[in-house]
Amino acid sequence: MASVELDKVTKQFSDGTVAIKDASFTIADGEFFILVGPSGCGKSTLLHMIVGLEETSSGEIRVNGQMINHLDPKDRNMALVFQSYALYPHMSVRENIAFPLIMAKVSKPEIIRRVEETAAILELSLLLDSKPRILSGGQRQRVAIGRAIVRNPEVFLLDEPLSNLDARLRNQMRIELARLHKRLGTTTLYVTHDQTEAMTLGDRLAILNKGVIQQIGTPFELYQQPCNLFVAGFMGSPAMNFFPARIKDDQLCFEPLGLQTAIPGHTDFSKPLDYVIVGIRPEDFYVLSNENDRSEQLIAFDAQVDRVEWLGAELLVYIRLKIDFWPDMSILVRDVGLEKKQGDMLEVIARLDATSTIVKKGDTVTLGFNIDKLHLFDPNTGDRLIT
Ligand SMILES: Nc1ncnc2c1ncn2[C@@H]1O[C@H](COP(=O)(O)OP(=O)(O)OP(=O)(O)O)[C@@H](O)[C@H]1O
Ligand SMILES: [Mg+2]
Repeated sequence: MASVELDKVTKQFSDGTVAIKDASFTIADGEFFILVGPSGCGKSTLLHMIVGLEETSSGEIRVNGQMINHLDPKDRNMALVFQSYALYPHMSVRENIAFPLIMAKVSKPEIIRRVEETAAILELSLLLDSKPRILSGGQRQRVAIGRAIVRNPEVFLLDEPLSNLDARLRNQMRIELARLHKRLGTTTLYVTHDQTEAMTLGDRLAILNKGVIQQIGTPFELYQQPCNLFVAGFMGSPAMNFFPARIKDDQLCFEPLGLQTAIPGHTDFSKPLDYVIVGIRPEDFYVLSNENDRSEQLIAFDAQVDRVEWLGAELLVYIRLKIDFWPDMSILVRDVGLEKKQGDMLEVIARLDATSTIVKKGDTVTLGFNIDKLHLFDPNTGDRLIT
């Protein structure tokens, strides 16, 4: 068993591209750790450095406290399931799974034993003599995983293993992977660009953007306390709503809504700001039906419903607000689609309980939110301001 530790790991390619910058985190022995981030942010590069397919430009990678930077991939006792895995089409499932053991010159009886054991774990026993072309996408994926676990690695790395599967199969494989991890207990690093997959599968996640780790924590921590605008916008679907709010006389003014309120407690302004970026999750809105629903903590405003999406148990209500205050915000906010200007319309999404809410296009509704639910961010750095 193994813990994996990255200490200021950096990768700069020969053309000057810095794909990973100062990545530091530790995956505990037996942990299911997720690395999540948008396409091109450096996920595969990081995995390739850990398994030894790419050299590390600087920093250290340690397994159980021992530096492994200089070790050959074959001496690392790790198995990687590649993003674009390919099975050998002319070989049977049995031969595909056995292949890494044959390459490692494992004895024949041992190969037979381990292949059968792996096939049983992955429910592939009845397919061992089949060729890949007759298998379904999910079965092929399991063969690719089998080829990795048959080596009984200390560390198991998966690079977007489910991205080629349809939604139903992806859900099913996700459950199977969680079960497999429980059974084998192997230290696992799982890479995905899909935040839902990341939230449902991992013990802990690291969020990567443009080669830089943004935040590490449990899915709950990252969702509740995103450390910056990028994490706040990346985790959650539909995404958090953002808009600027001016600060005047210690009050927070929501210009598009014509509202103002005291700045929430625990707000940490290290330097004075004229305005902040407010974030509010779609599920933190309520529909208020009468005056009595209003409390001191609740901010309420009237809005016209632009469109409605009914998702069975929930209702997504889209409202559009005219923007009358929109400062020129820093480059950071482009990550979360805040490139707007005065006079544009801002779309805000509320996610409501469909069983108790009847709202249709064109209705005027009173929406409310609790100020405790607000997230505030620095418009210059994107950093979270509420501690
Ligand atoms: N050999 C290389 N030489 C130069 N740049 C590279 C090389 N390999 C990758 N890159 C660049 O490094 C960055 C990170 O690429 P990487 O493949 O690690 O991203 P990723 O997060 O795995 O993306 P995806 O989700 O699309 O698989 C990209 O900008 C990519 O263009
Ligand atoms: Mg990749």
